[in-house]
Formats: sequence, structure tokens, C-alpha cells
Amino acid sequence: MITVALSKGRSLDETRPLLKAAGVGVLEDAESSRKLMLGTTQPGVRVVLVRTSDVPTYVQYGGADLGVVGRDILLEYGDQGLYQPLDLRVGVCRLSVAVRAGFDYATAVKQGSRIRVATKYMQCARDHFANKGVHVDLIKLYGSMELAPLTGLADAIVDLVSTGNTLKANDLVEVEEIMQISSRLVVNRAALKVKREPLRALIAALERAVADSEN
Ligand code: PRP
Repeated sequence: MITVALSKGRSLDETRPLLKAAGVGVLEDAESSRKLMLGTTQPGVRVVLVRTSDVPTYVQYGGADLGVVGRDILLEYGDQGLYQPLDLRVGVCRLSVAVRAGFDYATAVKQGSRIRVATKYMQCARDHFANKGVHVDLIKLYGSMELAPLTGLADAIVDLVSTGNTLKANDLVEVEEIMQISSRLVVNRAALKVKREPLRALIAALERAVADSEN
């Protein structure tokens, strides 16, 4: 049996067609079903639904052989040395700095002011501002980061941006892109030895599916 760890949401919606093209159709509607373990059209493959930040842990400890997880999560919480053979080119977005419309970020940076930044991506934000030599006080949040500049909790946020609609709806402006993000395939290294043939075949099929989806 091969177990694939996925998380609900955009990443799953966009990974599902790739899996299907690779011969692994997920049998139930993951969004409406409350089941956390789903069968697929391949009797030897099943899907487990976990929190996105738990995907690396499931794969590292063998709760799943494969997983799909955003580059942001791998960078923020560590990639646990997982084998990462494939960029699935789905869940594409960017990690960016955004401020309240009217906040002069460029001048604040130039003047060496201390900037208060709210984020759940503490590690990525710390690395980014340290590399740029920008002085920041980081405030850890777990969600709704867009509220922080609006309430005066922070001057800026570091968050994922896709369409930019959430920023716009909250009167925020993207001022700096930190990095491009997309979903990666991660693989348990022991499973790669023990289940070598079926795993290699599935990885190769996914690779073809990604290439085909780009044409
Ligand atoms: C992400 C991110 C933004 C939003 C950006 O949240 O935190 O809030 O998407 O998307 P947009 O640019 O297309 O508006 P997500 O919905 O992934 O949930 P989260 O807050 O749990 O991360």
C-alpha cells in the first residue's frame, strides 16, 4: 500500500487532476466528506488528509510515503531531510511583505526605522529582513494577518499572496516579494527503498502529468 498525504484546499484541488492523470483518481469528494482516509482508483494507493503543516511529519515518520506540501511550509518548519523529487507547479503563490496603503515602506527601510511586522512565517521573515539589513520587531500570529496593520498591531505583514484580492479587500499594498511558492512532492526515504518500484512509477507518472499540464 502506498499512502499519499494531502491537505484540503487549493493545493488538493489542484493536485487532484495531476494524481488522476498519473492514474490515481481520488474516489471521494474530500471537501464534503468527513473521512480522513480516502480510497483511489488504484487499489494499492490511498490518500490521507492532514493539516498542511503536518504533511512533512507524516512523511518523515512513515505515516505516509508521499506528501504534497507548499515550499513555504518546508522552509518555515524545516524540510526534515525529506526527498523532494518534484515541483508540482500547483498552489502557486508568493510570500510577500504588505503594508497599509499610505505607509511609506521604502522610506522607513531607507531611514533604518524599526518596522513592526506581523506574520506566521517567523523564520522566513527573520531571514529575509536580516539579509536586507532591515530592523524589524516580529510579532507571531496564527492567521488573519491582514488585520494587524489595520488595527495598529503592526506596520507590515509577511503573508502568502495569490490573486492579491485579500490584500485589496483590506486596503493593503504588496511592497516586496520575498519568494515564489508552489507545492512540492516529498517522499519518505525508507519507503523509497522498501517500495521502490511502485513509488518510482508513481513519481515518474506525476512528473509526466506535470509536464503535460504545462503544454
Ligand atoms: C492565504 C493567505 C491570504 C490569502 C491570499 O490564506 O494567508 O490570506 O490566501 O490569497 P489571495 O491573494 O488570492 O487573496 P489561505 O486562504 O491559504 O488560508 P490561511 O489564512 O489559513 O493561510
